[in-house]
Amino acid sequence: MTIKYLRTSSIKNKTVLLRPDLNCPVEDGKVMDDFRIEESLATIELLLQNKNKLIICGHLGRPKGQWKQEFSFKPVAKKLAEKLHLDFVATDHKIPDSKYPHLVFYTGDLRESLHRTQVQSIPEKHVVFLENMRFYKEEEDSDDAFAKKLAGLAEVYVNDAFGVDHHAAVSVTGVAKYLPSYCGLLLEKEIKCLDEVLKTTKHPFVVMTGGIKLSEKIGALENLGKKADKILVGGGVANLIFKSKGMEVGLSKIEEGEMRTAFQITKNFKDKLVLPVDVVVANPKMEKDSIRVCSPHEVGKKEIILDAGPKTILLFAKELKLAKSIVWSGPLGLFEKKPFDTATTALCRLIGGRGKGFAYVVAGGGDTVDAIRKAHQFKHIDHVSTGGGAMLEYLAGKKLPGIEALKK
Ligand code: 3PG
Repeated sequence: MTIKYLRTSSIKNKTVLLRPDLNCPVEDGKVMDDFRIEESLATIELLLQNKNKLIICGHLGRPKGQWKQEFSFKPVAKKLAEKLHLDFVATDHKIPDSKYPHLVFYTGDLRESLHRTQVQSIPEKHVVFLENMRFYKEEEDSDDAFAKKLAGLAEVYVNDAFGVDHHAAVSVTGVAKYLPSYCGLLLEKEIKCLDEVLKTTKHPFVVMTGGIKLSEKIGALENLGKKADKILVGGGVANLIFKSKGMEVGLSKIEEGEMRTAFQITKNFKDKLVLPVDVVVANPKMEKDSIRVCSPHEVGKKEIILDAGPKTILLFAKELKLAKSIVWSGPLGLFEKKPFDTATTALCRLIGGRGKGFAYVVAGGGDTVDAIRKAHQFKHIDHVSTGGGAMLEYLAGKKLPGIEALKK
């Protein structure tokens, strides 16, 4: 069972159904972060250069089978048109005739309209961008009839949607049954870069994690932990571990239901786990006068842990400086709010300084990507993954349904 790669194929003059992950944050009709659009451009441009007609399908948010304006893909479609220098036009019925390539945002109901003949008659290099696939209940139900209908629009399917490949759905797995299917350039890069830390790991290998949800990270931690030399833990995950040890964490946000998991990882990785030796705390209003640095053993009942302290930064830095492989997912404090971004930003800069040379660095997850951008470290990190949950599941050693569906 092998995967066919777009990079080594010669798909030309075809109607291609492309599934990228363009699930970008959108606020008031504006794309707030176009990282996933940028990362998807290589595949889109290659397909267009090769005179293919493109039908792009994807999802935005979690509308759960309902047509809700706030989840419309329009802002993303417009942004993509801008980046491709294509005129944008929206329609809910016939694809307009035009000699020149356009990006046509198609808002009609696929179950009732849009047929292959219509798509086939559009000029080459034309892009048809379909409205949010999750407006259809059939998408997440993996409805086979809907998969057939969607596949019927095209001659070839390309999956470039690493970020959502951990969820079976019509546009991710279903259509692959009915069309010759290929792995896009971004998906190929994700697999290659994540395999680099999973399979050919160079030591010392350091994993750094934080954020609130241990439940989302536990699979990756268990799997990477077997190979890692050190696991540096900050943020809410560290607070949860402190609490599981019976320490006071005051009013800090923790994932209460995961106390046993926290206890378990402390036991499984006791020689590898490095926890904060000092923390930054404040009162719940985060008033300036209430901010102080203390030992994790001295947190007051009415305080919140908001960042790792200076001694912890030095301790983590010592490990990161020696590392030859680094995986990072999850901020070490409330990095959205100054001055509680200090540990995350300082260590992000250090990681950037080690990347692309001394160490091989992989990082990912929504907040982590934000932190990397804020610290201007994007270009210094070997691979910033477009996947949040998908990256963690891949690093947990799980098979992702979207990738499996490409194996034929
Ligand atoms: C993501 O943003 O992580 C992906 O697009 C998947 O989205 P989902 O978690 O809503 O399936």
